[in-house]
Amino acid sequence: MKEQLLATKEKAKEALAGAGSLAELEDIRIALLGKKGELTAVLRGMGALSAEERPVIGQLANEVRSFIEGGIEEKKASLASAAREAKLKEERLDVTMKGRMPVLGKKHPLNIVLDEVKDIFVGMGFSIAEGPEVEYDYYNFEALNIPKDHPARDTQDTFYINDNVVLRSQTSSVQIRVMENQKPPIRVIAPGRVYRSDAVDATHSPVFHQIEGLVVDKGITMGDLKGTLETFMKTLYGNDAVLRFRPHHFPFTEPSAEVDVSCFVCGGKGCRVCKGEGFIELLGAGMVHPKVLERCGIDTSVYSGFAFGLGLERIVMRRMNIDDMRLLYENDLRFLNQF
Ligand code: DAH
Repeated sequence: MKEQLLATKEKAKEALAGAGSLAELEDIRIALLGKKGELTAVLRGMGALSAEERPVIGQLANEVRSFIEGGIEEKKASLASAAREAKLKEERLDVTMKGRMPVLGKKHPLNIVLDEVKDIFVGMGFSIAEGPEVEYDYYNFEALNIPKDHPARDTQDTFYINDNVVLRSQTSSVQIRVMENQKPPIRVIAPGRVYRSDAVDATHSPVFHQIEGLVVDKGITMGDLKGTLETFMKTLYGNDAVLRFRPHHFPFTEPSAEVDVSCFVCGGKGCRVCKGEGFIELLGAGMVHPKVLERCGIDTSVYSGFAFGLGLERIVMRRMNIDDMRLLYENDLRFLNQF
């Protein structure tokens, strides 16, 4: 019996050393100490022992039991700490690891230039006005001296919501809204989106942007218009920029002009960019037509004004050497990241 007990102890030692999980430990406990376990079986045989043998074997049996129980507890603790260790390792945070850079957005070229233009005009005392893109025919055409049957409507064909509501074809509509709501002196620019029923190509888009300008005050003359535009152009294109005014016709200004700036590539000699002209057409402008002022309740015996309207895309394309307008709308990051 003594040998049996010692053998059970050896077996327990081996089994405990090899146990890799709490479940295995429980199996070992049941196999050795359980009701039908090995040690229990040995103890059951104690009745057959002599009176001298019994206490000796009994003591040994108790030793073996507490050896096994102690072994199981010890192993349990070491398994638990190994599990904790493994978990810690798994959750370890390496603060020296390289982070992932968040992708930063940046300003679109149209907004880069628009912000420059706004800055220049705000610096000259202008404020920024806004008007709706879905506009009454009245503000887009009628009040700008373009009645329903006027041929000027042909060049500004737009999208009609109904007979009286259109997607505005020009920011000039904001001139009327400002004059209806503000008394002179007025000094505003009105940047915004405009619409025309044009097919898309390298220089046309059914949606584009204009910047309107309007000044109304006592004694405003063509000289003020020239001075303002010259200051603007020289700030935008540099002091060498030369302006050229060509007579033109717009129904809402009289006199009217188209304004060109000397080519910033060749300086006026003529090159590919200006198509040999030496000048690049930039905007329309003029003295606000008395009919337009009077319709807005402004007394033309006291006040006069000038207005101008320029295409933002045109300025951006010339500024940044972009030869296809579509690039400005496609949102291709390979293009946009260059600015
Ligand atoms: N609205 C005109 C256009 O889209 C541009 C323009 C010309 C605006 C003359 C003006 C102006 O304010 O005075 O063609």
